[in-house]
Amino acid sequence: MELNVSASENINGTLILPLFEGNESVPESCEVGMPTSLKSQINRVLSDGDFKAKKKSTMTLLGGEDGKAILVGLGKSDECTSHDYRKAGAAVTAGLKKSHGSELTVRFDDAGVANMGAFAEGMMLRDYSYDNYKQKDDEDEEIEVSIRITCAEDEASELTSLVDDYRGICKGVHLSRDLGNCPPNDMYPEVFADMAWEWAKDYDNVDVTIINYDQAIKAGMGGLVAVGMGSARKPCMVIFEMNKTVEGRCPLLVGKGITFDTGGISLKPGSNMDEMKYDMGGSATVFGTMEALAQTGHEGKVVAITCMAENMPSSNAQRPGDVITTLSGKTVEVLNTDAEGRLVLSDGLWKAGEFDPEYIIDFATLTGACVVALGHEATGLWSNDDDFRTRIHEAGNEVGELAWPMPLLPAFEKEMTNSKIADTRNLGAGRWGGANTAAAFLKQFVPNRGYEKDGEQITWAHMDIAGTYWGSKTNTMLKDGATGVHVRTIHHLITKS
Ligand code: BES
Ligand code: ZN
Ligand code: ZN
Repeated sequence: MELNVSASENINGTLILPLFEGNESVPESCEVGMPTSLKSQINRVLSDGDFKAKKKSTMTLLGGEDGKAILVGLGKSDECTSHDYRKAGAAVTAGLKKSHGSELTVRFDDAGVANMGAFAEGMMLRDYSYDNYKQKDDEDEEIEVSIRITCAEDEASELTSLVDDYRGICKGVHLSRDLGNCPPNDMYPEVFADMAWEWAKDYDNVDVTIINYDQAIKAGMGGLVAVGMGSARKPCMVIFEMNKTVEGRCPLLVGKGITFDTGGISLKPGSNMDEMKYDMGGSATVFGTMEALAQTGHEGKVVAITCMAENMPSSNAQRPGDVITTLSGKTVEVLNTDAEGRLVLSDGLWKAGEFDPEYIIDFATLTGACVVALGHEATGLWSNDDDFRTRIHEAGNEVGELAWPMPLLPAFEKEMTNSKIADTRNLGAGRWGGANTAAAFLKQFVPNRGYEKDGEQITWAHMDIAGTYWGSKTNTMLKDGATGVHVRTIHHLITKS
């Protein structure tokens, strides 16, 4: 899909007309350039009450003398927000068919630049399918559609730059989805690292460093190594640095990148195990966010660390009962090898301290318990700083990606340090509050500034995306598969808040 902004009055190809409930005819401001017969066709549909303009509804008008139209509902005008515009845009893309042709023109009724932009964003976000592994017939050769949004002369430049930004951000979201949807036989730590390496060549302001298996062993990354050593596909850590010469503290993102989570020796049950290909969703979020930032020309410094491993049972795999030493020096009694995300993240979080970041945010498909708590509707959000947690929550609300505040309680932390033979344990004492005990475990590996023993802990937030990275039926920004969630939240947080 190619999407452009133009101040011209012409309607080329099929008209896309977003409408509020209660319109009995084409709004006056939309009439310019509209062929008379198309206008009367639409007027008839509206006055007969055949299209009610309910939120996200669409209706296609074909067969008229003077062109085709897609009517799209925005709901009631006094309740309509930019989220509704975004959803309406996505609904149009979802319904696009060959019969609509390859050229379309969107005509708004006085929507304002922000809402027009949100509509365009929705159209582009929904314009995604993962069909790399399907044979293609010549017949279903996709037609490249070209969409023009018409607006007033004095809105054109602002809307153009907004749409340009959304186009770049969408590239990041789609990259995150591509990484997540890729089957696990083709997406493993080394492949992810290679992709990051190749990606960095496209930009002169980003550097990628790969810490390979041998280097991880030498460095003492005991968490990453323990989780990944059971697989023939060895673990690695990938570090992305954007605008590294910029002075001062910067955001630092950490991602869980388990390219397949069998559970290891604590093997998972068979049903739906295929979904554990998405267990690298945290690393995909981080990579996608870096792409969105790079695409939109972000000039600030940002660092990202992804912890890549495949969690396999084998004779080389770690066992329940093993005690490992993490990069921080803290030892962990591994009571369940399926609680592996927190082990790889313990090294990623500790490593983050080297960059003296302003704050650290980690992303992880960390616990089934988080899905029990919040379903597929919201990401779990924990932080050691209440104001920071609120900022992330608000950034999520702003872009329509919910992140819900969850508690970091001392009792949970205590539960995770109660090992008879090591400093910490990777499993709670019982199964209750499993998402919270996981967060409390992670907190122990967030370094103090300068790694000072009694220093202040670096501002940190943890986002458990186990329920939101895939499987949401209510997320209308995609058909199925990986959602690419929070690329937009974090882009917004870093660039606008
Ligand atoms: N990757 C899983 C978490 C998960 C489960 C994400 C289902 C999405 C859907 C994680 O590594 C895991 O297995 N966690 C265990 C932790 C437990 C052993 C303490 C879990 O949630 O059951
Ligand atoms: Zn697991
Ligand atoms: Zn996992």
